Parts: sequence; C-alpha cells; structure tokens
Amino acid sequence: MIVVAITGASGMIYGVRLLEVLQEMGKKTALVVTDPARIILKHELGFEEKNLKNLCYRYYQPNDFTSAINSGSCRFESMIIVPCTMKTISAISTGFADNAVTRAADVALKEGRKLLLVPRETPLRSVHLENMLHISQEGGIILPAMPAFYHQPEEINDLVNFLVGKILDILHIDHHLYRRWKEEIP
Ligand SMILES: Cc1cc2nc3c(=O)[nH]c(=O)nc-3n(C[C@H](O)[C@H](O)[C@H](O)COP(=O)(O)O)c2cc1C
Repeated sequence: MIVVAITGASGMIYGVRLLEVLQEMGKKTALVVTDPARIILKHELGFEEKNLKNLCYRYYQPNDFTSAINSGSCRFESMIIVPCTMKTISAISTGFADNAVTRAADVALKEGRKLLLVPRETPLRSVHLENMLHISQEGGIILPAMPAFYHQPEEINDLVNFLVGKILDILHIDHHLYRRWKEEIP
C-alpha cells in the first residue's frame, strides 16, 4: 500500500492527479488530507475533500493518530506528501509527529521506507532549506513541484503529468505520463 498525504500548500491538482493515476493502475492507496488542505482543495479545484474518498483504498482523518498507518507495524511500502507545506516539512524534520501525516512520515523514515515530499513554496527561507536538507540526509526524497519544459507542454495537464510522472519514476512504477528527453514517439 502507498500512503498519500495532501497538505495545505498550493498545487492540489498534483495530489489529486497522483491519486487518479495510482487508482487507474490498480495500486492501493491510503489517503490523509489535512484541514488546511481541505480549504485549499475547495478553493483551487472547487470540490470537497470527501470526493477524494472514491480515489483511495483507505481514508484516514488527519487528527487520528491511532490510525493503522501511524504504527511501524503497518507495512505500507512508501509515502508521498503532495503538495507538502513548509509547516509539515518542519514537523517531519524535527520529529514533531502530532498528526496522522507527520506521524506516518516519522514511521516511514524510522522504518527505512521511501518518503517522498513534494514541497510547494517560493521563495524559500533558510530554515525551509535546512529542514529539507535534514530530511534528505535521513533518506527522505525531496521532489519540488518544479515542472520542466523540455517535453514541450501545451496545457496545464502536461505540466501536472510531468510532475506525477517524476513521482512514479521514484516509486519505480512504469508510466507514459510525459515524454522523456530523446524518447521516440511510438
Ligand atoms: C491559499 C493558501 C495557500 C497556501 N500555500 C502554501 C504553500 O504553497 N506552501 C506552504 O508551505 N504553505 C502554504 N500555505 C500555508 C499552509 O496552509 C499553512 O502553513 C498550514 O498551517 C499548513 O498546515 P498543514 O501542513 O497541516 O496542511 C497556504 C495557505 C493558504 C491559505
């Protein structure tokens, strides 16, 4: 099972697209959406967080630190936080595991599982950079929401698919979400 968390940064479309793609591929996901994310989801995409329940296998409340994914005994293989706020990054960096997202991230790091964070903030303070460096040094992967342009995107979905494709690359999941550099068109 793959844990997906959506926190209150701009870029809700990335998290939702990842859930769609993983579901289309038949992958099982456990989803947590923080309270700030619920508000931004409504603002950016115009829908309620409850609509996301159809896109996941398990759904957990952010304040439920007793949920299965919050124990090291839960054998989820990887966790992606997309988009990921600087607040959540700060909590993960310091081990301040006070909600279901930061605790599951704590579990991923302490158990040596894949933790992938997709931060969305600009510009960055020194403390933001330090927190990301700290998580990276512990084995977490920082994959900033920075779409490329060498695949010649024509619409927003091309940029979103590029980023989701990069996430799948890290997870070693095959896909055709973006055209790789020098890749032949079939
Ligand atoms: C419209 C809006 C956009 C925001 N975008 C970002 C963002 O891109 N990155 C970020 O780190 N925080 C952003 N924030 C601030 C977070 O939502 C805030 O720090 C919140 O407490 C994060 O909590 P969470 O990490 O538990 O979701 C934004 C807030 C609002 C209202």
